[in-house]
Amino acid sequence: MLLFRDDLSNEGDRMSMDNLLKIGVCVIGSGRAGMIHARNFSHRVDKAQLVALVDAHKETLQTAQKEVEVERGYSDYRDALADKRVDAVVVVTPTVLHREVVLAAAKAGKHVLCEKPMAMDVRECDDMIKACEASAVKLQIGFMRRYDESFMAARGRIEAGEIGDVVLVKSLTHGPSVPQAWMYDIRTSNGPLAEVNSHDIDTLRWFAAEEIAEVYAIGGNFRCPQALESYPDFYDNVSMLCRFADGRQGYIDGAVSVGYGYDARTEILGTKGVMFVGRREQDTVVGCSKDMGITQSFVKSWRTLFTEAYVAEDQDFVDCIRENREPRVRGIDGRMAVAVVNAGNRSIRERVPVEVPAAQDGVRSGEGS
Ligand SMILES: NC(=O)c1ccc[n+]([C@@H]2O[C@H](COP(=O)([O-])OP(=O)(O)OC[C@H]3O[C@@H](n4cnc5c(N)ncnc54)[C@H](O)[C@@H]3O)[C@@H](O)[C@H]2O)c1
Repeated sequence: MLLFRDDLSNEGDRMSMDNLLKIGVCVIGSGRAGMIHARNFSHRVDKAQLVALVDAHKETLQTAQKEVEVERGYSDYRDALADKRVDAVVVVTPTVLHREVVLAAAKAGKHVLCEKPMAMDVRECDDMIKACEASAVKLQIGFMRRYDESFMAARGRIEAGEIGDVVLVKSLTHGPSVPQAWMYDIRTSNGPLAEVNSHDIDTLRWFAAEEIAEVYAIGGNFRCPQALESYPDFYDNVSMLCRFADGRQGYIDGAVSVGYGYDARTEILGTKGVMFVGRREQDTVVGCSKDMGITQSFVKSWRTLFTEAYVAEDQDFVDCIRENREPRVRGIDGRMAVAVVNAGNRSIRERVPVEVPAAQDGVRSGEGS
């Protein structure tokens, strides 16, 4: 039987039991990404317990609850925030709702892991950071590539000086599927730069340990004819040149609806060498036949490519709460990625290079571990 802090009547018992108690987690938004976290917290994260799920869509909620065997399901996130068993929430609603949900969670004293993109613009991000600081709750952002074994190894080897000083970071993400319809409206979704390439933006900042100061982006729609008429400014392909604050260089290549698989790779060029991160193969099987030649399956989905990174991310969130330390990926990281997304979309629209406003508090969190 699970024991929760509030089940104990004596304060001394509560304190001495604190270390043994599990962090009660609620996932808000039980869709594609939400269920990755829900599955992790239901059986793969140590010292945590999935205590509730939220989804505004009744059938989605019921199916999700059944799958992860969680009794408590709420259609209104505010009811979940009033639940004393909930110590922490994972915010996995559509991005437009992140600010609203995070502000309410902070007010209710719940720790927050917020999926990327953090929000729609930097003002929203600032509100979220301030609210979490004011309530002294953790705010972690869902850039799970920072927990991927290969990305972490690359970062460590760069830091150790293996390729000298980093000069150029190139990062690409191509998604296989036709976008969900809401992504076509750039004004309300911030488009593929936000939904797909936020991860690349964070990777650039992380590997260069520097902020992106200026971008020049071009976009076009080459594979989604269904969006052309109603959303003429929707792009399914984007190329973005980046200049870091100290003059070094970055490049981001983004695409959706590519069909061939989920492609996430990074190349780092230094003064003494180069480093490549990311795999293309779904598994180690290589076929060879008269008709097809040599064949191998491409990685199918972000869900499979980053399975272990999501677990490590969720575990670190819980550990941060228990150990009362700062998350590895903080609000400022989410904020700076959003600033670059907004600058990139403006650059596409206005066909000019656009400067990225610097962080007001001067924190350069590309420097984090
Ligand atoms: N880290 C990653 O790799 C990654 C991958 C995919 C998505 N995401 C992010 O996660 C978020 C969700 O994306 P998704 O692909 O899972 O979307 P989704 O549409 O599959 O899921 C979103 C869910 O939120 C629910 N919802 C909508 N309004 C709600 C409300 N007011 N209260 C509660 N639930 C509500 C919807 O019914 C839906 O089930 C987005 O911000 C997205 O960018 C991150």
